[in-house]
Amino acid sequence: MKIWAVSNQKGGVGKTTTVVTLGGLLSSWGYRTLLIDLDPHGSLSSYFRQNPDETEASVYNLFHSASRKQKNYDPRPYIMNTEFANLSIMPASTAIATLDRQVAALDGMGLVIATALAEIADEYDYVIIDSPPMLGVLMINALAACEFLLVPVITEFLALQGLDRMVRTIQMVFKSRKQPPDFKIIPTMFDKRTKAAIKSLHTLRDSYPKNVWGKFIPIDTKLREASSAGVPASIYDPTSRAVAGYSDLLDELLAKNRVVKSAVS
Ligand SMILES: Nc1ncnc2c1ncn2[C@@H]1O[C@H](COP(=O)(O)OP(=O)(O)O)[C@@H](O)[C@H]1O
Ligand SMILES: [Mg+2]
Repeated sequence: MKIWAVSNQKGGVGKTTTVVTLGGLLSSWGYRTLLIDLDPHGSLSSYFRQNPDETEASVYNLFHSASRKQKNYDPRPYIMNTEFANLSIMPASTAIATLDRQVAALDGMGLVIATALAEIADEYDYVIIDSPPMLGVLMINALAACEFLLVPVITEFLALQGLDRMVRTIQMVFKSRKQPPDFKIIPTMFDKRTKAAIKSLHTLRDSYPKNVWGKFIPIDTKLREASSAGVPASIYDPTSRAVAGYSDLLDELLAKNRVVKSAVS
C-alpha cells in the first residue's frame, strides 16, 4: 500500500479535484484505491454523494473509537464502496471540525490514520488523503500518514501567497519523522492564455526548483462538470485536457511509487 496526501492551507486550489481525478485514474487502471476525506467541508464525500451533515459512519467515528480506552483503530466499518470499480472512500462528517477540541490533546492522536491504514495495508494498493486547509489534528494525520505529498497551487496572480507557510508546515511536521517524505507542488488551473498564469508558473519554478512538478494541470471546465455529475473526470471525459494532465502526473508518480498490482479487482 502506498499512501499519498494532497494538502495546501489554501482552499479552492484543486485539492479535492486532484484526489478524485487521481483516484479515478488509479482505480480504472486496476489499482485498489481508497480515498479518505479529512476535510470538515466534506467536498470529497459530497462528490460521491455522501452528505457530510448526515453521514453516520465516517472518519469521525474512527477518531473516537481510537481515542477511547479500547484503542480500536479498525477503519473497515467506515469505508464504503463507490459505484466505480476498485474505488472506495472513507467519508468525512462535518463533525470532524470539532476533533481539535475533543481529542487533539490525547496521546497518539496524530497517528490515528497512519495506524488505521496499517491494519488494511494488504487490502488497497493506493490511498489518497484529502487534507483540510487548516493546520490541526486532521492535517497532522494526513502529513504523518503519507509517504508522498502533493501540494496543488493555482497558477495565477499571488499564487505563492500562503505557499511559503505550507512549505514551512510540511517541513515542521516532517522533521519529526525518520524518513521525511517527498513533496511535489502541482501547478493547477493553468490558463496559458493569460500572462499572470505564465508569470506565476515561472515564479513557482524559480522559488521551488526541486519541488515543482515540471508540467501543469490546465484549466478545464470538464472538471467542474464531472464534479456536478459526481463522476471522476477520468471516467466522465477521459479525453479531456485536465485528465491528460493528471495522467501525466500519475505516470510520473507511479514511476517512483508503483506497487505490484494485485490479481484481485
Ligand atoms: N484544472 C481546473 N480547471 C478548472 N476548474 C478546476 C480545476 N481544478 C479544480 N477546479 C474547480 O475549482 C473548484 C475548487 O477546486 P477544489 O478541488 O474543490 O479545491 P480545494 O479542494 O483545494 O478547495 C472546484 O469547483 C473545481 O471543480
Ligand atoms: Mg477540497
